Amino acid sequence: MNPVAEPTAGRDALKARIAGLVGDDLMAVERVFATELASDDQAVSDVVDYVAHFRGKRLRPTLTLLAGHATGGITRDHHVIAAVVEMIHVATLVHDDVLDGATVRRHAETVHTRWDVPTSVLLGDHLFTHAFHLASSLGRADVCRQIGRATNRVCEGELIQHAEQGRIGLVEERYLQIIGRKTAELIAISCSLGATRNGDDTHAAAFAEYGRSLGIAFQIADDLLDFAGSEDEVGKTLGSDLGQAKLTLPVILALAEAGPQHRDRLVQGLRSGDRDERATVVAILEELGAIDATRARASSYAAQARAALGPIPPGPARDVLEAMTRFAVERSH
Ligand code: IPE
Ligand code: IPE
Ligand code: MG
Ligand code: MG
Repeated sequence: MNPVAEPTAGRDALKARIAGLVGDDLMAVERVFATELASDDQAVSDVVDYVAHFRGKRLRPTLTLLAGHATGGITRDHHVIAAVVEMIHVATLVHDDVLDGATVRRHAETVHTRWDVPTSVLLGDHLFTHAFHLASSLGRADVCRQIGRATNRVCEGELIQHAEQGRIGLVEERYLQIIGRKTAELIAISCSLGATRNGDDTHAAAFAEYGRSLGIAFQIADDLLDFAGSEDEVGKTLGSDLGQAKLTLPVILALAEAGPQHRDRLVQGLRSGDRDERATVVAILEELGAIDATRARASSYAAQARAALGPIPPGPARDVLEAMTRFAVERSH
């Protein structure tokens, strides 16, 4: 059984509900994204068009728009904020794929595979600077500051993860610090800024909490996919956490339960740097109950995200945000 199997019909129905609520706005966000990055030089536009063409799930812009919808309505500023958070996200992915030695992203070759590492470094920087240039067009120093702070934390998360790479003693608390920064911070502001623009701090605080918990659940599920997902479905290189000895929750929980034999086998799998070890390691993780325990942790953060929606006015956008917490955990891509 695929441990991260997801009910496809439910997922398609959710996508349709999202399209019904914010589909036109998501198209407007695409236009803001493309206009900001337009260049009259082909050397630039070739690489920019490439990352703009291969779209991911657009999770972060969707959250910004739904938060706006749920708290008074979507404005032009929401389109800008949504494009900014997606641009920062794509910048981190372009750099992350170099760090992880990944060859496939969004069902296409990664930038450093298609071009080279210098192109990835430069394109990632280019996307970061454009994101801040675009954010400044809002004329809101407080919003720019929040975006800057969240991006600082994302970079810290990646730096800490790199520094901790290969350390077998990594504990759950440290892992949560890493993913809290590298993933949850950006998702948190994607949500809270959608509400801040409508001027209500209570709603913004609730959305920050929602986004933080959702982000942690989402990254835990992503780390499960790295072991147990299918590359064809996920559309990106998997197995690199194991291949590069980046300890994530399934392994951390397994090591806490393992007797000496399993422990030696897991450590060997981590140290060998060999992605082919994946099947053996997954079998041990399953035997030790670490896959189920990891999924339970993700579900518990998803439940926290749902609880955080308490102060948000009832309505279709809130219903969709609630449903998204389940799909963040039960996903196959
Ligand atoms: C991938 O994010 C990186 C993580 C934080 C797990 P997404 O899964 O949102 O990537 P795209 O945008 O859909 O490609
Ligand atoms: C995501 O981490 C990187 C950031 C959040 C900055 P991962 O390395 O786990 O993401 P994927 O699996 O490559 O998408
Ligand atoms: Mg990666
Ligand atoms: Mg991953």
